[in-house]
Amino acid sequence: MSLGLCVIGCGDFAKVFAQEMQTLAGEVDLFFASRDSQRAAEYAVAFNGKASFGSYETATADPRVEAVYLCTPHFLHREHVAMAAAAEKHILVEKPIARTMEEARSIVQTAQRAGVTLMVAENYRFMAVVRRAKELIDSGALGELRMIQMQEETDFRPGGWRVSREQNGGGVLIDGGIHKIDILNYLVGRPADVYATALPQVLDQLEGEDGVVVLTHSRSGTVGLINHSWAKVGGKGPKWVTVSGAKARISFDLAGTQITINDGLEERTLEAAGDRHGLVPMVLEFRDSIRQGREPETSGSVGLEDLEITLKAYESMESGHVVSLD
Ligand SMILES: NC(=O)c1ccc[n+]([C@@H]2O[C@H](COP(=O)([O-])OP(=O)(O)OC[C@H]3O[C@@H](n4cnc5c(N)ncnc54)[C@H](OP(=O)(O)O)[C@@H]3O)[C@@H](O)[C@H]2O)c1
Repeated sequence: MSLGLCVIGCGDFAKVFAQEMQTLAGEVDLFFASRDSQRAAEYAVAFNGKASFGSYETATADPRVEAVYLCTPHFLHREHVAMAAAAEKHILVEKPIARTMEEARSIVQTAQRAGVTLMVAENYRFMAVVRRAKELIDSGALGELRMIQMQEETDFRPGGWRVSREQNGGGVLIDGGIHKIDILNYLVGRPADVYATALPQVLDQLEGEDGVVVLTHSRSGTVGLINHSWAKVGGKGPKWVTVSGAKARISFDLAGTQITINDGLEERTLEAAGDRHGLVPMVLEFRDSIRQGREPETSGSVGLEDLEITLKAYESMESGHVVSLD
């Protein structure tokens, strides 16, 4: 039986999501809800929607809608989770789960009390290159882990709600950067402490930081280094990840399909089979977790963990000190 999934909020990323869902015709029935009925109808036409709704409330009241994909601004995640849970719909909420731990805990509790599945839409964890990297690390091919480095420098110019620190919950770190926090957590484990510093600001209109460097240590000493900026001069750069171990080192572009592994004797390129963007396997995991009555892989607790590390990084940015995660 296909999953009746309604996209709530017809904005920029909803388009990317809906385009990727086209390969799941027959497995997922898409619906679209917007505060503007015309926009919802346009998305439904463009992306083979079964129906469209001119309000989020009419969408969640419709019996054909079994689950919602909340693709709305961060400051509205709690309100929209509460609305969907009250209508007993399963919930796939975009990252970050929320702006604060209090909001995030309330989201998890709301879903639990309503008995609905809650999954955080952390698609990076489902990318083929990230899955392949995890297999290589878990196989012991890299030996003892020494360091993970991630770099994304781009020339994104945020507007609307993203400009407000209050509505976004911060700047680049809680927005795009939280994907890197999740990859770090997934590939090398939860850090024990975090230090973060913002770069000198270039995007004056943005209240949050436009560039950040985050440094973490795990209990065993593995170092994590994230460099994420929205204000690169000269266009987009690659989204690089490198993981160094005592025996070998892997590197890959998050937008790519290949992993390079070098063990000091030779360098090989491995293909990462599977979905490049991670959105399709993420939605299949959401559907399977609902059907099987189990926690999804990126459950509310994963969302809480990623948010906690992110917020401790903000605490460090403000205090100038290393912050413990214990
Ligand atoms: N996984 C990823 O790689 C990825 C990439 C980008 C963004 N995201 C996440 O996706 C979510 C949406 O981001 P986006 O870039 O798509 O944002 P966006 O373009 O601003 O779209 C958000 C949509 O939310 C709805 N909305 C409801 N109340 C609103 C309000 N008061 N102000 C503004 N919009 C309101 C609007 O849809 P209607 O007008 O149609 O109701 C709006 O188009 C965020 O959680 C973001 O972090 C994830």
